[in-house]
Amino acid sequence: MDQAEQLRNIIKANNNPRPAARIITVTSGKGGVGKSNTAINLAIQFRKMGQRVIILDADFGLANIEIMFGAVPKHNLCDLIYQGKNIREIITWGPMEVGFISGGSGIVGLSNLSRDYLIYIVQNLAELDTIADIIIVDTGAGISDAVLEFLVASGEILLVTTPEPTSITDSYSLLKALRHHPRFSETASQIKVIANKVDNQNEGQVLFNKLNTVVGRYLKLPIMYLGAVPQDSQLSRAVMQQMPVSLQSPGAKSALAYEAIAAKMMNKELGQSVTKRGMAAFFSHIVAGKKNND
Ligand SMILES: Nc1ncnc2c1ncn2[C@@H]1O[C@H](COP(=O)(O)OP(=O)(O)OP(=O)(O)O)[C@@H](O)[C@H]1O
Ligand SMILES: [Mg+2]
Repeated sequence: MDQAEQLRNIIKANNNPRPAARIITVTSGKGGVGKSNTAINLAIQFRKMGQRVIILDADFGLANIEIMFGAVPKHNLCDLIYQGKNIREIITWGPMEVGFISGGSGIVGLSNLSRDYLIYIVQNLAELDTIADIIIVDTGAGISDAVLEFLVASGEILLVTTPEPTSITDSYSLLKALRHHPRFSETASQIKVIANKVDNQNEGQVLFNKLNTVVGRYLKLPIMYLGAVPQDSQLSRAVMQQMPVSLQSPGAKSALAYEAIAAKMMNKELGQSVTKRGMAAFFSHIVAGKKNND
């Protein structure tokens, strides 16, 4: 039995009939377009709707989320993987009881772990499915193998783009890389687009239409438009004060846009059609991918 199969068996044994969390991975082709703000503000909006939310900061370079939260985590994912900490010990609770887990230096070297240890990790991550309804994964900038691994393991991919021409072409490049990933499945992972830093709603729609046209023509990939977030000085100010704008200024135009997007993601039609893969399966998918690539 190879390791991927072992992991599948572990999940079958441990994960039924447990609930599975909805895993939403936020990404972009180009850096600095607003991924971390999207993650944190959607987290606050989902909390306001009564959902239990955990953010996994998978940006192993710069710890974005903790800076925006103004909270310093004591532990990170590496402490669970290598130091035997349990899942509850590595969650830091921020404003409005949004939990977050810092990725630390990540999942490098995971494929060398013993089977017993992988069972330990998968069991712990499976517990996350009982703690959270929604897990938002914030990824780093650029199209790296690590980011693609997270994307193919997610039920929902949230692509953030801006009206800058380079942002649109970089979004296209990311989707192209995803399309050609050996384990990408367009039925298992839905791609949803947010237009950020727009001057008006129309600019967002035009931006999406452009992207949708080339993606449909050359990649034959379905993508869905979630809406636009305006360029907003109140958001920049909130970032400076290490507060999500949705908390600091709930009436700000960007906060209202996040509220509308969160509502759309939770509505019956969109909310029920997503694959709720759960955290254990998400993680196993990544480990299995690493094994195959080694
Ligand atoms: N809607 C907006 N209105 C005004 N400023 C914005 C908006 N969205 C993002 N910004 C600004 O852009 C900066 C980058 O945003 P953010 O950190 O969320 O991007 P990112 O995609 O996570 O970046 P990185 O790729 O470095 O992780 C923020 O500091 C913020 O000031
Ligand atoms: Mg970021």
